[in-house]
Amino acid sequence: MNNVISNICCIGAGYVGGPTMAVIADRCPHIEVNVVDINKDRINLWNSSKLENLPIYEPGLDKIIKRRRNKNLFFSTDIEKQIAKADMIFISVNTPTKTKGIGAGKASNLKWIEASARQVSLFAKGHTIVVEKSTLPVRTAEVIKEILKSKEHSLKNKEESTTFEILSNPEFLSEGSAINDLENPDRVLIGGESHQAMDALSKVYKNWVPEEKILKTNIWSSELAKLTANAFLAQRVSSINSIGALCEATGADVREVAKAIGFDSRIGSKFLDAGPGFGGSCFKKDILNLVYLSEYFGLPEVASFWNSVVTLNTWHQHRISKLITKKLFGTLSGKKIVILGFAFKSNTNDTRESAAIQICKNLIEEGAYLLIHDPQVGYKQIEQDLNLRPFNKNKNKNYSEKNNEGYWEPIDTVETNFNSADAVLILTEWEEYKKINWKNVSKVMRKPSWLFDARSIIDPNKVRNTGLNFWRIGDGI
Ligand code: NAD
Ligand code: UGA
Repeated sequence: MNNVISNICCIGAGYVGGPTMAVIADRCPHIEVNVVDINKDRINLWNSSKLENLPIYEPGLDKIIKRRRNKNLFFSTDIEKQIAKADMIFISVNTPTKTKGIGAGKASNLKWIEASARQVSLFAKGHTIVVEKSTLPVRTAEVIKEILKSKEHSLKNKEESTTFEILSNPEFLSEGSAINDLENPDRVLIGGESHQAMDALSKVYKNWVPEEKILKTNIWSSELAKLTANAFLAQRVSSINSIGALCEATGADVREVAKAIGFDSRIGSKFLDAGPGFGGSCFKKDILNLVYLSEYFGLPEVASFWNSVVTLNTWHQHRISKLITKKLFGTLSGKKIVILGFAFKSNTNDTRESAAIQICKNLIEEGAYLLIHDPQVGYKQIEQDLNLRPFNKNKNKNYSEKNNEGYWEPIDTVETNFNSADAVLILTEWEEYKKINWKNVSKVMRKPSWLFDARSIIDPNKVRNTGLNFWRIGDGI
């Protein structure tokens, strides 16, 4: 069997499939890479001649797409044809938390994984290496294998022979720095049973990743290592946010505490920024999946340990909205709050599980009038996340007509929208918010006015003597 890969197909053109395949195509010009998806609109956007219309915003992605698209990188809905041509297939489809049935609220919904495995089983030809790129519960490879094996059996004794090998190759990229993470990964993890298949995938990565960074494990360790990595990272965020609350209560400063503990080389300084609570499509889902697996395997104490990371995160988001309400005299009715940032972190247009969603919902519930700004998130996405249509100025000229019910409005620019606002709340650490002149802002706000910095991006010295009341996360001083 030949372990030289010349044609790759990736099922799923999302946040992982798109950027990952773009980098593979860029670093391996000798390999043809086809990214396929059932979502026609998404594929059209990947093929859009205007690079600003790509479905995903990631710094550096547009340049790679420009370099490789229609040379050795192709986006299409032609799933059958591309699967049939490929000698390696990445499955990079969504694996969200189940919303109903057994394990609802915790277990991963594997219906898209199963559908992909069935597509591969139907259309693949010859020998095909199938790579799990999606984050999956440990032992999912078994399910995929079973679906693929049924095809091998059904073809036995026929002239054409179709064979499969399965690998786990979880993705560790972070949104906002995806291209750099893919080009310079800390490690590439390959789990599998067949050395030949592992070597074939390893050979692809060796085009740009140093050999010592390519780790090979058994397939179950690889699947579990991915869930564990996310759980450990999220645990650090919940840990520092819990300490932030204690800092506020005791007069300590969470930045100083984080710096002091981060200097310990055993702890390290990364992932110790207190914030509004972790968001993103994966931390919560992957921990809940770990909780479900632990319960399933009869380890309730392990389940409860990891569940507390998510519980703390939810509590923390509510804590922030409660605190704002309290500082604004216990009522937000008729009060204008400018929200800076809606994405779950900077440099991405992704809002999945963003802390901004829960916090904004809570503020609206209290009757606030929110003006929401994000440089990359469109108002339709915000509308969908808040499950509330934006206020329409033409239809509702007078705010009081709405009986002081909370509502929201999108804003395109920051500078001109602070007039008569009672508060500003920073929820995403976008660079442009660091440059705001708070002295000018304070002049046009209604007094007493507040600046709430849930991301610690504002230098307190720049707010001092501006007339603004200032609160920042984890600052008890
Ligand atoms: P996504 O929702 O952005 O993209 C998934 C894509 O798969 C969608 O476009 C969907 O239409 C497509 N799809 C679903 N079923 C299909 C099918 N049968 N055939 C063809 N296309 C199909 O998801 P994502 O953020 O790219 O995440 C994918 C996986 O990677 C998840 O398991 C996630 O946990 C994991 N992951 C995500 C990140 C991240 O930063 N987003 C990082 C590491 C790992
Ligand atoms: C995370 C992991 O970092 C990736 O390794 C992993 O591949 C990915 O999940 C995944 O599996 O989806 P991502 O969610 O893109 O990446 O972003 P992170 O940088 O990890 O941030 C997650 C959340 O934690 C964000 O809301 C961020 O603002 C928050 N965070 C992070 C903090 O509040 N403080 C920190 O110190 C770090």
